[in-house]
Amino acid sequence: MACFFRRKIAAKLAEALQQSDDAFIPVLTVIPVLKKQQSADFRLSLGTLRSNGILPSSGEIQLQTENLVAQLKPDSVVEDITAGHGLINFRVNRSLLAEKLLEPFAEGESHNFGLNSKLLDTLKRGTTLVEFSSPNIAKKFHAGHLRSTIIGNFIANLKQSLGNNVIRMNYLGDWGMQFGLLGAGFSRFGCTEKLKENPLQHLFEIYVQTNKEAEQNEDIKRAAKDFFRQLEQHESQAMSLWQQFREITVNEYKHIYKRLGIHFDVYGGESFHQDQAQEVVQELQSLGLLKISDKGTGVVDLSPNGVMSNICTLHRSDGTTLYITRDIAAAISRKEKYSFDEMIYVTDKSQENHFNQLFQILLQMGNSWANRCRHVSFGLVKGMKTRTGEVVFLEDVLDEAQARMLHNMNQSNTTKELENPEDVAEKVGMSALIVQDFKGPLQSDYKFDWDRMLQAQGDTGVFLQYTHARLCSLIQRNEGVETNTFNPSCLSDQTGITVLQHLLRYDEVLYQSHQDLQPKHLVNFLLKLSHFIASAHRELPVKGSPPHVAQARLRLFKGARSVLASGMRILGITPVQKM
Ligand code: ARG
Repeated sequence: MACFFRRKIAAKLAEALQQSDDAFIPVLTVIPVLKKQQSADFRLSLGTLRSNGILPSSGEIQLQTENLVAQLKPDSVVEDITAGHGLINFRVNRSLLAEKLLEPFAEGESHNFGLNSKLLDTLKRGTTLVEFSSPNIAKKFHAGHLRSTIIGNFIANLKQSLGNNVIRMNYLGDWGMQFGLLGAGFSRFGCTEKLKENPLQHLFEIYVQTNKEAEQNEDIKRAAKDFFRQLEQHESQAMSLWQQFREITVNEYKHIYKRLGIHFDVYGGESFHQDQAQEVVQELQSLGLLKISDKGTGVVDLSPNGVMSNICTLHRSDGTTLYITRDIAAAISRKEKYSFDEMIYVTDKSQENHFNQLFQILLQMGNSWANRCRHVSFGLVKGMKTRTGEVVFLEDVLDEAQARMLHNMNQSNTTKELENPEDVAEKVGMSALIVQDFKGPLQSDYKFDWDRMLQAQGDTGVFLQYTHARLCSLIQRNEGVETNTFNPSCLSDQTGITVLQHLLRYDEVLYQSHQDLQPKHLVNFLLKLSHFIASAHRELPVKGSPPHVAQARLRLFKGARSVLASGMRILGITPVQKM
């Protein structure tokens, strides 16, 4: 059990300072390992104890550190306790480290390694609604939608792994003037055949063409307005065409998301909240929050002292509602329907202001749960292009990643005979895309670079997949080696200890990821793990070693493979067995 040591050290501290063990669980940190360097395993900062009120903030900190160290007696588990500058370092028994960490892998695999940890127990659990992807029907699926898709999926996976009940929701842009144009355009430029064959493409073409024509042609403009008015009045013919467009689009998207290994529990959309949006306007009015502007629009004043410096428009002068009005209605209806404990929206940073306003208005309406709504925003991707040009559809990106990866695999002489190379190329290509996207802080913009992300060496998703496949092959080649029991003292080489020390940090990395919902902690953990595994591959051969050494090493490799695979899955990557 990975948290065995954290608990032991916490108990020791609790005894010395007459506090409960729980106070020390979150303040102990696993020391990140530097390659090939002997180091202690856990660290405690006296500064943190002071700021948490566990120790008095007065007096000389170094003296306090040394006094505390003097009170802590090493034992057979925690062998060495030393004072640093305002820090205490703990080193645990090496053989016990191997024994406890690899304990869960008796069957070769453990799906909850690190997850049943005392540290993660300190987190609240409940129902989390994650809204992500949310493309607009008949419009472009841009890089922002792709980022929302993979980031939202990561957040949902993480929350689920940590024991929450997760609802994955896609909130489609399935209402608005674009449907007026589509409706008016379909009778002119539409083709039922094409709509069946390639629906996303065809709807997009109709939309673009009608939009262009409408600029010069008043008739089309009028027809579009007319069609949208019919929709707003729920006229059956218009509604049935709209329904068809929506259904076809959702089915197509389901297909594509499946390629990405992503599913949604709910396909909602703006269209569901038309009528409720009108009710929201009425409620705001009766609460005295709605003001009518000179232009006849309905606005809410969000500026701190009512000077109208931050106003948000909720209906146009003709009474029709807007994007934000529908979002208010949608949030309220989700709360009623799913009674979530928290809700997370994932979109690019251009919508930061929108979500701030949304949460503020919800609060002003008396919905205190809006404090548990959160917008996770991310930066822009520049230069996402395929060989045929600018990306318009999600499928284009997936096809391109797959094709490029397949090409690289065919060029490489380490590629194995594969039953389904296309499938492998798709999974590896996706992991390249995901790792490139997740490596830095989400807020940063970055430049999309096919060649760099698909490199086999270096910190890429391809490298993660390669490491995983290599471990699978090692395990397979040594199928005859029994690893149910092993002698932990055979893992005393520094290379093996390094892998173990790194695995010790897994729960902390998940904890960090949970705190700020940034995938970079986990990605960098897995990349580093893969580098340590590469050294272990070189220096700790299984074949040709004495049986008990071979056994212990193989057990280590099995543990490492299992953690690598679990971490990859949380990121939204499907590990491959062979490549
Ligand atoms: N469909 C929107 C867009 O493409 C994103 C929706 C985000 N979610 C929301 N609840 N507003 O920009």
